[in-house]
Amino acid sequence: MLKVKKLFKTYNLNSSFFEKQKKFVALNNISFELKENEVLSIVGESGSGKTTLAKIICRLIPFDSGTIEINGKNILDYTKAEFSKTVQMIFQNPYSSFNPKLTIGYSLLEAVDKNIKNKKDIIMEKLQLVDINDDIFKKYPHQFSGGQRQRLAIARALLREPKILFADEPFSSLDVINQNLVLEIFNKIKKNKKTNLIFITHDIPAALKISDKILALKAGNLV
Ligand SMILES: Nc1ncnc2c1ncn2[C@@H]1O[C@H](COP(=O)(O)OP(=O)(O)OP(=O)(O)O)[C@@H](O)[C@H]1O
Ligand SMILES: [Mg+2]
Repeated sequence: MLKVKKLFKTYNLNSSFFEKQKKFVALNNISFELKENEVLSIVGESGSGKTTLAKIICRLIPFDSGTIEINGKNILDYTKAEFSKTVQMIFQNPYSSFNPKLTIGYSLLEAVDKNIKNKKDIIMEKLQLVDINDDIFKKYPHQFSGGQRQRLAIARALLREPKILFADEPFSSLDVINQNLVLEIFNKIKKNKKTNLIFITHDIPAALKISDKILALKAGNLV
């Protein structure tokens, strides 16, 4: 369902006015495939290009060359609305994932597809999945713990029922109890078979536990 072919990405480095623009190769000829219902982990040391790869597949940053297809269609050919139903991403830091000025309920309502009539029903369904029972229409992000916010971020990402859910280091900022809760939620998502999970992690034992395939990056190369 996901096919990445010969992907290259360079970043421009700051250089002084008189120097030629310097480039840093962040991803060097990456190719891989993911089948329906497979869980993938991307591992590798800090700076190896994991987040860069995720951001490219989520269309958050451009790439230099190569092709990325999801269900046989180039990701650049999806409309914005179509794409938000196709790929969603959960970021490393649960503290910055919600607008602090809006109630969680408001943020979640905004994330539901405009064409859905019973918006609250789908929100409740996803909140149940992540085991949050608070009145989210009264509460603001700061009134939830980091672990709860991480789970709320997962609920929000699932509102669009995406084909692919990327999670960038979803365990790194959580304590063991919350890590296990989040791991359980991912296992439930895996069993639902609606969404392909892709994890980015430093934690190889966790990667081995949950995934069918592991991709190891080293300095932008697939190893
Ligand atoms: N906007 C940018 N401009 C220049 N270089 C960048 C930029 N973003 C990332 N890089 C560089 O690209 C390389 C890969 O970064 P990336 O964030 O993908 O690593 P990572 O594998 O996710 O690391 P970590 O495990 O620390 O999150 C790093 O060397 C980083 O310094
Ligand atoms: Mg990263």
